[in-house]
Amino acid sequence: MGLDNCSGKQVLTLRPVSLTTFHREEEMEKQRWGLRKLVLVPCPFQGHINPMLQLGNLLHAIGFSITVAHTRFNFPNPDNHPDFTFLPIQDTLFDRDASSMDVTDVISCLNISCKAPLKNSLTQIMEREKEDHSHKLPCIIYDGSMYFAEAVAHELELPSIMLRTTSAATFLTYYSFPQLLREGYLPLQEAMSLALVPGLYPLRFKDLPIANFKNKNLDILLQQTTRTSDIRSSSAIICNTIDCLEQSSLARLQQQCKVPVFPIGPLHTIVPTASSGLLKDDRSCIEWLDKQTHNSVLYVSLGSIASMNKNELREMAKGLTNSRQPFLWVLRPGSLLPDDFNELIGERGLIVKWAPQKEVLAHKAIGGFWSHCGWNSTLESICAGVPMICQPCFGDQRVNARLLTHVWKVGLAMDSSLVSIEIEKAIRRLMLDVEGHELRRKIINLKEKIELCTQEGASFYNSLSELRKCILSC
Ligand code: UDX
Repeated sequence: MGLDNCSGKQVLTLRPVSLTTFHREEEMEKQRWGLRKLVLVPCPFQGHINPMLQLGNLLHAIGFSITVAHTRFNFPNPDNHPDFTFLPIQDTLFDRDASSMDVTDVISCLNISCKAPLKNSLTQIMEREKEDHSHKLPCIIYDGSMYFAEAVAHELELPSIMLRTTSAATFLTYYSFPQLLREGYLPLQEAMSLALVPGLYPLRFKDLPIANFKNKNLDILLQQTTRTSDIRSSSAIICNTIDCLEQSSLARLQQQCKVPVFPIGPLHTIVPTASSGLLKDDRSCIEWLDKQTHNSVLYVSLGSIASMNKNELREMAKGLTNSRQPFLWVLRPGSLLPDDFNELIGERGLIVKWAPQKEVLAHKAIGGFWSHCGWNSTLESICAGVPMICQPCFGDQRVNARLLTHVWKVGLAMDSSLVSIEIEKAIRRLMLDVEGHELRRKIINLKEKIELCTQEGASFYNSLSELRKCILSC
């Protein structure tokens, strides 16, 4: 991203990295193999679809052919990705009301119901391509939550690679669970929630990705995290991160894993990518932002899954209004609003159902982001240099929030009890106080470090080059 010098306005000019070195090698490979086919298996949630399709764009740009094997549930719009082939997987979720299920149930259901259909589809593709002796077998790149894909690859004797769409720090916590269980720390005890987790500084027990799920789900969660972190036959792991953000976690992850770990991120900054949004962007908010003053607007979004109850929404609305800062708030369709919501909101705020988030964060009017700290939102905010109010809701969001507030020190922690007076104070600290200026200065530094690491010849290139070799050799 960069500044448009003529207007002085910050715009989303994604700075595609130069991939010329890769193109020369691509020509030679094409002569040898034709285009090597990669079959991507994303997990069908917005925060997982985005990085997988961004990775697809990057790998397509360096010479691979991309097929996306996707559930019918949350199917992305193929028209936005004309270079990809889409292969629908006949999942059973499509016919059920997934909104009434929690995320762990959906993941379990997908891993059971998608295995046979994916195997059948891949078998058919391989049969068709058998005649063509110059073709190498396709390589499967699957989201870590879709671990059935690794089993399918193994059964069909296809190479596979896992994509982690969360931070390296989150993935690292998965490896600690068996030991925490053995030592009696799990299920988590309320009294221990603020204690530091041995070996995972600065994470506290309450920050662990399993902390806020009810105990009845602990077994399922542990099964899922164990299965996800237990690489059985895959050749490598790709992480949507970069070493200048997570150097020590990446180094420890590499020690834990038997296969190479490639940090290939932040994926959204690498190549220009069409929207993979499941909801339509409401672009009216950009016109509205154009009329606001520099750094004055607080952007509020809790991502694509987290939801608030009526009382929490009322407190949020009151806190926002009382802070007297303009705000742009994403409230997804289906949010249960309190009856007096419109009166509470007043004139300072704009509410939309879905925003072009990366463009919003790059807008000069945006001065802060009140976020649930999903990993994509975290990376997008850092890369736009926008400091954050961190209000994690579940899963990896608590780990990311802790990184933001205690490692990179570019965000403020929001009290989870959500009381309007506390919200108002946090907003004023971020948007108006010296403390907020300091957070902004630090996050801009971090953004600049990432820009250096993704320049030609820097760490991102080495990692991509190694990944490419790995794919071609497996
Ligand atoms: C989920 C989990 O909740 C998150 O913790 C995990 O890291 C990834 O999967 P989600 O809650 O949707 O993701 O959050 P996030 O990771 O931030 O991804 C949301 C994506 O939707 C971002 O790329 C964001 O730019 C996009 N978005 C969100 C929009 O484009 N418009 C919006 O209005 C809101």
